[in-house]
Amino acid sequence: MGMSGLFLALTFLLLATTRLPVKACSCGPRHPQEDFCGSDVVVTAKFLSVPQLNHTLHHLQYKIKVIKKFKGFDDVGGITLVPKFLTTPAEESLCGYQHKALSKNQEYLIAARLLAGQLYVTTCSFVRPWSSLSPAQQLGFNQTYATGCGCQVQHCLSVPCNVESDTSCLWTDSLISSAGEGSQSLHMACLPSKSDFCSWKSLSTEAPQLTI
Ligand SMILES: *[C@@H]1O[C@H](CO)[C@@H](O)[C@H](O)[C@H]1NC(C)=O
Ligand SMILES: *[C@@H]1O[C@H](CO)[C@@H](O)[C@H](O)[C@H]1NC(C)=O
Repeated sequence: MGMSGLFLALTFLLLATTRLPVKACSCGPRHPQEDFCGSDVVVTAKFLSVPQLNHTLHHLQYKIKVIKKFKGFDDVGGITLVPKFLTTPAEESLCGYQHKALSKNQEYLIAARLLAGQLYVTTCSFVRPWSSLSPAQQLGFNQTYATGCGCQVQHCLSVPCNVESDTSCLWTDSLISSAGEGSQSLHMACLPSKSDFCSWKSLSTEAPQLTI
């Protein structure tokens, strides 16, 4: 073995032994209204297949059937072809979404970006069974969050927090739950009111309006 061969062998040895475990993907909590407003397309859909590697895209793809279209299909700037695939990075370390199938008939709410005309999600995306959402979140996704995309959900991660503008709502669920699952996430949306202010409004479908 010559010098360069030895060097190569040592390099391989070094690479093999110093390979660190890949850091798992991590995502901060978000209010579902942020997921709605930050997405190109929001639908409910059923998963029809196990993921398959798309060799052209180097991504995994699940075959899906879109049921309801909540965002991204309007005449101005929306897509016209209904997506048939949900695309995600091939590796979990690259934030690839892994679908934990409950049943083929389960309808999922998917808030996605677009990649080559198909839904694109990562493990940080909002992909959850429709039936697991609170009635207020269902109303938010199918109707109300859209009216609040000019408002900002301002994250409050530690006290004190000061609201930064008239169009911001202080989101304090993360003070109580690290997953950000609190009453603002489950029951409210940050919506414009008179004179361009934004504030939390209860989306409860039955109960009278509560405000905090
Ligand atoms: C790969 O993805 C592209 C874009 O989504 C799609 O048009 C194509 O049909 C896919 N290929 C396969 C083999 O599914
Ligand atoms: C939106 O969801 C709410 C809560 O599930 C439901 O009562 C309402 O009928 C839905 N509206 C539309 C337009 O799908």
